[in-house]
Amino acid sequence: MSDAKSLKRKAAEAAFAELDEGLNIGIGTGSTAEEFVRVLAEHVEADFEMTGVTTSERTETLCRELGVPTKTLDEIPILDVTVDGADEIDGDLRLIKGGGGALLREKIVAFSSAKMIVIADASKKVETLGAFPLPIEVNGFGLMSTFMAIRRVAETLDLTGDIVLRKNGDQPFITDGGHLILDASFGRIPDPEALSAALRSIPGIVEHGLFIKLASVAILASEDGIERLEA
Ligand code: A5P
Repeated sequence: MSDAKSLKRKAAEAAFAELDEGLNIGIGTGSTAEEFVRVLAEHVEADFEMTGVTTSERTETLCRELGVPTKTLDEIPILDVTVDGADEIDGDLRLIKGGGGALLREKIVAFSSAKMIVIADASKKVETLGAFPLPIEVNGFGLMSTFMAIRRVAETLDLTGDIVLRKNGDQPFITDGGHLILDASFGRIPDPEALSAALRSIPGIVEHGLFIKLASVAILASEDGIERLEA
């Protein structure tokens, strides 16, 4: 197992250690969340009882392959806990998510959970969010208008930088919800709350990748061990 993979695995194991049996668990998307699915699968195989609600088709497929039982969020609308990765985590447990394109379902599932545990290798922890381009999920209708509105509201917060349409090969990347993603390279986001509110004012935006006041625990794995942050 590569070093990066083994750190993700350690974070996933530490998150699992915090879970009781019988919970309804939101399951995130991305390479770290997939390690968590593998950990879950091993315990389910040994008769650990849980039910998962996944945040993407990709995670749903992996759960099916590995025998992790799942239901839809409509079947279980309130979850005990969600375990998910992140692209960046700051000291207040504010996150950038959506590098894997699943931010909308991830946010809906996290919001529906009593608790969100973020798992990551320690390199994801930052002083200030924004080095990772902020994913913004948008409706395809009026794309240019939405693009220009994002640029306009960002400038009112002194945020500039490239905003690019995410591609899958030479085609636009399409989310599980059938939307597009714009990746905004703002570089540094000193006031994530203000940016979140400003982006919310734009009708063409379906959701953005700033997760604020959603994560209550972050488990960060490094060669030195596990760091646990609590909101
Ligand atoms: C998926 O849309 C993302 O929010 C992921 O949680 C995030 O990109 C972290 O992915 P990795 O665990 O692969 O770094």
